[in-house]
Amino acid sequence: MRIFICSDAAVLSHQAGTFVANVVADNPQTVLGLAAGATPLGLYRELGCHHDQGLDFSAVTAFGLDEYFGLPAGHPASFRHGIEEHLAARVDLPPARLHWPDVRPDADVAAACAGYERTIAHAGGIDLQILGIGGNGHIGFNEPGSSLAGRTRLVRLTAATRRANEGNFSSPADMPEAAVTQGIGTILAARRILLLASGANKAAAVAAAVEGPVTAIVPASALQLHPDVTVFLDAAAAADLRRRDEYQAEAEMLRRMGLLR
Ligand code: F6R
Repeated sequence: MRIFICSDAAVLSHQAGTFVANVVADNPQTVLGLAAGATPLGLYRELGCHHDQGLDFSAVTAFGLDEYFGLPAGHPASFRHGIEEHLAARVDLPPARLHWPDVRPDADVAAACAGYERTIAHAGGIDLQILGIGGNGHIGFNEPGSSLAGRTRLVRLTAATRRANEGNFSSPADMPEAAVTQGIGTILAARRILLLASGANKAAAVAAAVEGPVTAIVPASALQLHPDVTVFLDAAAAADLRRRDEYQAEAEMLRRMGLLR
């Protein structure tokens, strides 16, 4: 893993924005995997600025990482709504190229999840998967205990995850108890992965994911098995890392050698 520690969330968003913009500039047909939630909003804002300066997203394809089960697409708390508002509309990503798992309550969920995996495969696989991390170490909605080889499926959300997200709903009772998520196996199949974390409430999960053992209890620790993971952290999220100084020294060295853009 390549770890970059930024002074604050604004710098993190700026640097992560440059990282993703370079990927899209190098390959205008990039296939992106998109996390929703609060953490990547600054990155998506930055991509809007890159688009204003000419970066073309018209040939990009994107796949939502996860979505609440049973929530209508237009629901203000749906991940789809968030990504459409904060990214797709800002960068001219064609609606037909932005894919979501089928979370309609009357859908055949298993068939829909298998279909989602096929659609990703038909697109040539995901080039860059953008991830946040839950305070409990989840990636996507792969909660602790998830198979490290799992694929897209219906999952039950833990009480901790429901508590962390219920503020987005008009009442806690409206918070869905289930979601459809790309599995950890789906995530690890992406060619590159970008993990973002900011805030002290992520510090323990980040340390466990990056420096702890690979274990299903910390789903994000599975990222240690992937050969191309870039992690952008703010100082608060990096606070519990034992090798913090080493990561910073390596980033400096790469910068000095001109190996970072
Ligand atoms: C969102 C997702 C989740 C979030 C995580 C952090 O699509 O898959 O894993 O990335 O819960 O959420 P925030 O960024 O809101 O703290």
